[in-house]
Amino acid sequence: MNLLVTGAAGFIGSHFVRLVQRVRPTWNVFIVDALTYSGNESTMVDLLSAGARFFHARIEDRAAIANIIEENAVTHIVNFAAESHNDRSLQGSSFLTSNAFGVEVLAHLTKEYKLERLLQVSTDEVYGSIAEGQFYETTPIAPNTPYSASKAAGEMVCRAHWKAFQTPIVVTRGGNTYGPYQYPEKLIPFFTVRLLLGKKVPLYGDGSQIREWIHVEDHAAGILAALEHGILGEAYNVGDDNERENRETVQLLLAATGQDNALVKSIEDPRKGAHDARYSMNTAKLRSLGWEPKVPFDRGLTETVEWYKANTSWWSELLNNASYQDFIRQFYGKSLGADL
Ligand SMILES: NC(=O)c1ccc[n+]([C@@H]2O[C@H](COP(=O)([O-])OP(=O)(O)OC[C@H]3O[C@@H](n4cnc5c(N)ncnc54)[C@H](O)[C@@H]3O)[C@@H](O)[C@H]2O)c1
Repeated sequence: MNLLVTGAAGFIGSHFVRLVQRVRPTWNVFIVDALTYSGNESTMVDLLSAGARFFHARIEDRAAIANIIEENAVTHIVNFAAESHNDRSLQGSSFLTSNAFGVEVLAHLTKEYKLERLLQVSTDEVYGSIAEGQFYETTPIAPNTPYSASKAAGEMVCRAHWKAFQTPIVVTRGGNTYGPYQYPEKLIPFFTVRLLLGKKVPLYGDGSQIREWIHVEDHAAGILAALEHGILGEAYNVGDDNERENRETVQLLLAATGQDNALVKSIEDPRKGAHDARYSMNTAKLRSLGWEPKVPFDRGLTETVEWYKANTSWWSELLNNASYQDFIRQFYGKSLGADL
């Protein structure tokens, strides 16, 4: 297989390539990434030494991607490339170019070059929030933030391509993911690096929002199962039955970093109405393909904190990035004040 993986300088895409290089060593892997603020060459060092080839390009650049497909006889694409941070979308950044238009370009090229399969990596956030019960793949999508709306738009492009042209596309909807190499702006790595630095962490409200966490290796394995065995035109939930209130996750992080509640500051929720209270997915459909999550949350979280302790050079470089500092100042400056 000649596999093009987009967005593999980022968090989940890099783990997916790591997994493929380990369990499918005969596949040729090509990486496309725009190296935005969340995509870093330092995340791909091991992937490139293991033989993956890197192309610096944007997925919406049709000519560049067409060239890469042609020159490397690409047969499959897995698309991780996206603007991925909800809170940044709430600050007004435009996400549609990468998350919808970019998907449309990949879908068109999949059709034009008669590729065997495009796997579009989407999110459970397209469903919106659920008070009770679970999201099934048949649940109508109802996104609540500009980020999730842009991901839903990407999914609609895929659905329309399948209906109109039978373009071979499969979609996965992953849950909140954690693990090594996650850019330190999302809850778990953001809190981890701040606690390791002895800085206060901002907990929205009383921290009772419920998130269903999945370890990045389990998420990557779910995507591989859908790539190899998923039915064309279908979507697959990728989640772990692991619902936690944010305040509980924070307690686990305090224990793993050796800190205490003095470093937790309750702040007004900057997302206000856009903060989904609960996500929960039914994953029977993906499990029927032979996949199951394997990493228990407590162990996965402790190992993740250990990874951040051992790899300070990877994240301390990112904290100095102007885009990172601007985001933290704009999003948390008012509520954290002198504790920023
Ligand atoms: N992190 C999660 O909890 C989670 C959960 C479910 C689904 N997802 C989805 O998984 C995918 C990967 O998420 P992540 O957390 O690894 O994100 P990330 O921000 O760590 O990585 C995204 C990567 O895409 C690249 N990129 C962005 N726009 C691009 C463009 N137009 N062209 C080429 N490259 C581009 C970035 O440089 C970066 O390397 C995204 O599609 C996201 O929506 C993430």
